[in-house]
Amino acid sequence: MKVSIIGGGGLVGSCAGFAIQCGGIVREIALLDVNADLAGGQALDMLHGGPSIADQVISSGGYEHIPDSDVICITAGLRRQPDESRLDLINRNTDLFMSILNDVKAAGPKSSAVVLVVSNPVDILTYLAAQRLGLPSNQVIGLGTQLDTIRFQSLIAQDLGIQPTQTSAIILGEHGESMVPIWSSATVNGLPLDKFPGWNANKATELFTRTKGSGAEVIKKKGGAGFAVGIAIRDVIHAVALNSNQILPVSSVQDGKCYGIRDVALSVPTVVGTGGVIARHEIALWPKEEQGLKRSGSVLRQTLETVMKRVGA
Ligand code: 2OP
Repeated sequence: MKVSIIGGGGLVGSCAGFAIQCGGIVREIALLDVNADLAGGQALDMLHGGPSIADQVISSGGYEHIPDSDVICITAGLRRQPDESRLDLINRNTDLFMSILNDVKAAGPKSSAVVLVVSNPVDILTYLAAQRLGLPSNQVIGLGTQLDTIRFQSLIAQDLGIQPTQTSAIILGEHGESMVPIWSSATVNGLPLDKFPGWNANKATELFTRTKGSGAEVIKKKGGAGFAVGIAIRDVIHAVALNSNQILPVSSVQDGKCYGIRDVALSVPTVVGTGGVIARHEIALWPKEEQGLKRSGSVLRQTLETVMKRVGA
């Protein structure tokens, strides 16, 4: 399988490339970037580590890599300022993103290609990509709240002194201010999290608040996320590569079957495989969780209407 990463010279794109390389599953990785030298340097640096990982083809270049790519990952975009919300970023990033979509479409992607949108605001841009690329909408996935989910699990595990790999707590909805913590299904190795010694409502609030602010916290400390977002991207791309049918909280255009949410892209429990979105599951949530998810949908819908006016519906 071949993966092309648009924005592969940047922090997110290069960390995604490295995470996928270390996974050893994807056969070919191409880093595409307007800064050809930077992408070339990232690719060369990855190439040098190859003998200790797997037999893969690592390269950099331009849109000549699109026609034979099985996954096209779009990470290019301007980064938020620490005090800027992802939705504020929309105007600055929409124009850039629309030109990338046009270039991808013109380069002639495979009819079976899966597009993974990472650029922010990811839910809005995922909707635009599904609208504009001319691929079936199930082949267009946004990273959504997969990154928020692994951040959430990592912070819960750190706080409770338990193993991150045994901590299961999912976040759904917008990858942004209206994201929703799903406490109703949070567990530690299958045991209910809210029964864990030392767990209380204040801790829950504190950990979710920190999760929601993690993007800004990392931006403030080091300029932007790289490692964890690269791992989250790897999780989705491996599900596609292995046709694993894993259930992941990723963003896709909703058709109303999950919680009555339609005509907007956001994260619900989604089965991911080679074809992209294989299915979406409307899993029973607490009433306040379902309300939160619907609120996420309406917040995103409002922004989408503004953006669609700007880019032309
Ligand atoms: C973040 O939350 C890049 O949106 C991503 O860090």
